[in-house]
Amino acid sequence: MEDRTMIRVKHKKRIKVEVLVRNATLDDVNGILDLEQETWPFFPANREKVESRIQTFPEGSFVVTLSNGEIVGYLSLQFINYDLENPKASSWDEMTDCGTIRKSHLIDGAYIFGVGMSVSPRYQNMGIATRLFFATWAIGVGYNRRGCMLGSRMPGYADVKDRYSPEQYVQLRREDGKLFDPELRLYEGDGFRQICLLPNYENDPPSCDYGVLVYQGNPFYNRGGRLFQRLAAWFLARWGHKIIGV
Ligand SMILES: CC(C)(COP(=O)(O)OP(=O)(O)OC[C@H]1O[C@@H](n2cnc3c(N)ncnc32)[C@H](O)[C@@H]1OP(=O)(O)O)[C@@H](O)C(=O)NCCC(=O)NCCS
Repeated sequence: MEDRTMIRVKHKKRIKVEVLVRNATLDDVNGILDLEQETWPFFPANREKVESRIQTFPEGSFVVTLSNGEIVGYLSLQFINYDLENPKASSWDEMTDCGTIRKSHLIDGAYIFGVGMSVSPRYQNMGIATRLFFATWAIGVGYNRRGCMLGSRMPGYADVKDRYSPEQYVQLRREDGKLFDPELRLYEGDGFRQICLLPNYENDPPSCDYGVLVYQGNPFYNRGGRLFQRLAAWFLARWGHKIIGV
């Protein structure tokens, strides 16, 4: 899945950056590790995890590159089975086989699970994460999975933890009606709904180690036959972002 698109920075800087979204290969591992170090102060993915994800499920690892080849975005996915009616508060390590996905990725799993997503701080707020969601939805539609879930961080919580319980915090909204937490706001804006809190999800001081399971169903699930699903997946991967203007 490849596409080249000009995306424009928000905040009216009017800078244009051409990015390529494509599947990651083992040749990208060093670039992904540099990005992880830059993006994650507490738990960057290491070589074993990144290599193992690409080897276990190559179609589920994506990079976003600039025209000079620099990797500025990274996403990895796996397939899992999950009982959404009785959600279990597992940790990220449990759900991802400690980030390697070796045993946690089930080739026939009914749901996509987001293992990791990173966008370089130098290129955040430009719509790159939203572009990566389209790669995710293309996988969900193309492989006919029920939906996509992931454990969101809640990185604004540590600053206000004395005033709000985690349950209150995840519902906290700004005056404009959008969620207060930047990451939960991103997922809600891209169509995910909250399922449950995940205490001790990962070592993440800004989130006080909490995660929030968020979920979005696949509206194309079991609809229209394989040819239609493949065409819809191709369209989403290549043109989906145009629909929402990123
Ligand atoms: C979360 C993250 C992937 C978003 O990437 P992005 O390309 O900047 O996101 P987009 O441009 O598509 O969307 C912008 C939205 O992302 C959210 N966001 C932006 N920067 C963020 C940050 N540092 N931390 C959390 N959320 C952030 C905000 O909701 C923002 O919308 P706003 O204008 O209403 O504030 C990126 O900030 C990041 O890599 N953060 C650190 C690692 C991480 O938390 N990964 C996700 C693991 S679940």
